[in-house]
Amino acid sequence: MVFNRMDRKQQVLQKLRETDSYLSGQQLCEALGISRTAVWKIVGRLKQEGYPIEAVTNKGYRLLSVEGRDLFNQEELERTMNTAWAGKPLLYKEETGSTNTDLFRLSDEGAARGTIEVTSKQTAGKGRRGRTWISPPDVNVYMSILLRPAIRPDTAPMLTLVMALAVYEACEELYRESDQELRFGIKWPNDIVVSAGGGPYRKICGILTEMRLEEMEIRDIVIGIGLNVNQTEFPEEIRETAGSLSLALGHPVNRAELTAAVWRHFEEVYKTYLETQSLEPLRERYECGLVNRGRKVRVLDPAEPFEGTAMGITSSGELIVRTEDGSADRFVGTGEVSVRGVMGYV
Ligand code: BTN
Repeated sequence: MVFNRMDRKQQVLQKLRETDSYLSGQQLCEALGISRTAVWKIVGRLKQEGYPIEAVTNKGYRLLSVEGRDLFNQEELERTMNTAWAGKPLLYKEETGSTNTDLFRLSDEGAARGTIEVTSKQTAGKGRRGRTWISPPDVNVYMSILLRPAIRPDTAPMLTLVMALAVYEACEELYRESDQELRFGIKWPNDIVVSAGGGPYRKICGILTEMRLEEMEIRDIVIGIGLNVNQTEFPEEIRETAGSLSLALGHPVNRAELTAAVWRHFEEVYKTYLETQSLEPLRERYECGLVNRGRKVRVLDPAEPFEGTAMGITSSGELIVRTEDGSADRFVGTGEVSVRGVMGYV
């Protein structure tokens, strides 16, 4: 039932898109084999979602330019996505608890590998280390992908770095060229940060990878991404470190376009990673974005915190930290250890 309604909405949109001038209610009824009331209701729903549809008596309906609008719904996402397998299917929800949690449930119900869920609002967003991911409505992107890779469970943490690289490269591709003042980066292992006009780096994206095992083998993996896109205000506790793409760019950002770019990049880097199950072929690209590189870092290892200079990553994603006296390199795993810049967040 729901699918029928969605198809109709898509069909009305498509008809309006194909026509430069007006389409009468009668023409739409005939083309789609539905009643005038149904057309009227669908147009109302489309308007509510933000489509600028003009309705003129005796002429009909006309879709005005959607340029510059942040339309974010099933139709726009399907129209913008151009992936081979990621997001087939793609499920958009206006609101949910957590896209990661939803995908594990869908996986139990037989969902295909590559299924993506995207939402505009989470009421129980999960962050790393058991934290909450604050997920305000209608401004950001919260999404997850379901994977079932045939890899060893101990290599799975690398996927988090793979996703970080995809998001970083998507941001570089979409926004960097138009604004030389912007600097995107990856704060090891998987926070995406941005600095505008020489200002401090602020976190605009967090990634949460969760895995379930069955008899020591991977049953499924869900990678979730929270992207701060058009958010302009942040709660006190993260105000110093969090930012958003629109604040950095100085204008609102189209979320569907960003979503599509992330998954396009993910397909490419994921394929490269799976070929070797190592980050070696991606290491140089990752290090290009690694903002910690060459900077002093403090490794907040609960057993033994220490400081040093971040040099790069190993082929399995550990951070290489040269100790203060330069005598030795230490390798920091992604586990429970957190890394901070000595002078600030990065
Ligand atoms: C972090 O703490 O940095 C990771 C945050 C990950 C948040 C995303 S939002 C979409 C997905 N669903 C969740 O519940 N969490 C992840």
